[in-house]
Amino acid sequence: MRPEWTVSFLKEKVREGSKDWQELSMESQEFGNLESQLGGEALKVEFRKSGKVVEWQDRYESILELAEDEGIQIPFECRQGFCGECKVKMISGEVSMEETQGLENGDETDNVILPCVAIPITDVILES
Ligand code: FES
Repeated sequence: MRPEWTVSFLKEKVREGSKDWQELSMESQEFGNLESQLGGEALKVEFRKSGKVVEWQDRYESILELAEDEGIQIPFECRQGFCGECKVKMISGEVSMEETQGLENGDETDNVILPCVAIPITDVILES
């Protein structure tokens, strides 16, 4: 494992905007699960209304996939960030989204995300 590939290094790169989380995640897969290799805790995604707190795993391509695996129903159509059908309010946390066309004016300031394209970069609490 490259010594510079620490979780904090990767998160910093995402915050700087020089890399997106999905790209880094794919690049880092050859090194296995960074969180477990570094002894860090996996990110948690809480679905408040459903009363579930779930650990994020790199095998998921989106928070929507994680929700589906947990039996949490979030409506969807395109699964690519275009239609906005899956919109969910994020109570706290940060996510990376490679497509945001499905968001409308004011959604981002209201912390509305598109779980079909969202990857957590911190622990996240969602309203759903
Ligand atoms: S399902 Fe279309 S934007 Fe998420």
